[in-house]
Amino acid sequence: MRSFAYWNPTKLYYGDDQVGQLAAESKKLGSRVLLVYGGGSIHRNGVYDAVMRELSAAGAEVVELSGVEPNPRVSTVRRGAELCREHRIDWVLAAGGGSVIDCAKAIAAAAKYDGDFWDVVTKKATATDALPLGTVLTLAATGSEMNANSVISNADTQEKHGWSSSLVYPRFSILAPSFTATAPLDQTVYGIVDMMSHVFEQYFHHDANAPVQDGFCESILRAVVQTAPKLAADLGNPEHRGTILYCGTVALNGLLSMGIRGDWANHDMEHAVSAVYDIPHGGGLAILFPHWMDMASRKHPEKFAQLGVNVFGVKGVGEGRTAEKVAEEAIAALRAFWTSLGAPARLSDYGIDGSQLERMAGMVTANGPRGHFVSLSREDVLAIYRSAL
Ligand code: NZQ
Ligand code: ZN
Repeated sequence: MRSFAYWNPTKLYYGDDQVGQLAAESKKLGSRVLLVYGGGSIHRNGVYDAVMRELSAAGAEVVELSGVEPNPRVSTVRRGAELCREHRIDWVLAAGGGSVIDCAKAIAAAAKYDGDFWDVVTKKATATDALPLGTVLTLAATGSEMNANSVISNADTQEKHGWSSSLVYPRFSILAPSFTATAPLDQTVYGIVDMMSHVFEQYFHHDANAPVQDGFCESILRAVVQTAPKLAADLGNPEHRGTILYCGTVALNGLLSMGIRGDWANHDMEHAVSAVYDIPHGGGLAILFPHWMDMASRKHPEKFAQLGVNVFGVKGVGEGRTAEKVAEEAIAALRAFWTSLGAPARLSDYGIDGSQLERMAGMVTANGPRGHFVSLSREDVLAIYRSAL
């Protein structure tokens, strides 16, 4: 286990009866708030009304920024930062999924940044200050509600990058399962694939003596594997929504990576695909991850065998069953599981052909090989893309 420092200041309110905390938190952060949301789902499912009720109870003046895109754009971040300056905004409230929260994080920092915020996203510059930020989550997926990450796209240059700053940890996040109940099946499944992928990125490591971390990972994965089919068949079910919501948050709030170094190459590979083709992040991961597993398990089958036994109930090594064989069955079980939920399995499911694969592989490895569990060269990334076509 590696040395580590852990700090996570986000105050989490979980439960439908916690929505009332928004008024109290609002009073602490100031009277002028920028409410950031997406394409309108919050108007249709009552979340907007609930949020406005709380803000009004707190006496807040609300300025709105709507229309944040899935895969949020830096142009929207610039617009939001402008609104913050123009209206002398005290704090930013995101109401939506990961895209809305990531955009709100960038707005909060961009409002206090003099140059072009794309320089911060591309790590040519660093954010030095940010407005406070709160979130009301409506989609279980990214974990953005309790981490310091934000992923922003640039439509002009067809780039998508993650940036991170402890300045943009949400001060509070409200997780009301009922607010996620209207997420349609496809978005629900993308979210499930994304949270499982976050666990995988941290589960596949080479650090010794991490049984607690591995157990946390397997526990989350088992809960998702048991709950997801029931939720897919009954999308409004509050208990299943609640389980999946909690899984999404703990999958990427730092808990799983204490003392270990995860892999993260699949996220780099997916971000290149969604930068060029603007596909849903979870859809891209569902396509790529099993192909990465095929390659990685040839070098290190043991951890895949462990996954198969402890998560998918695959029969273990012994009686003529090698680690390679068990690993193969584990990966087949994951493929079958994601397919059963309706997740895409091939890049061609999104109409993606081979024309941009070389370019995307170049984007992924622009700063050298990617991944820590297995190190992927440009040729390896290209091979994974080709096998996923
Ligand atoms: O825009 P609206 O109308 O709100 O609709 C959204 C959107 O169309 C809809 N939706 C969300 N909640 C809903 C709902 N529809 C009905 N009822 C609800 N309750 O779902 C669609 C997708 O939303 P989005 O926010 O894009 O999805 P997600 O939460 O998966 O976020 C994806 C973005 O997060 C980034 C991804 O790359 C992508 O840009 N990520 C952020 C991470 C982080 N900050 O830590 C880590 C992840 O690995 C990921 O890269
Ligand atoms: Zn992700």
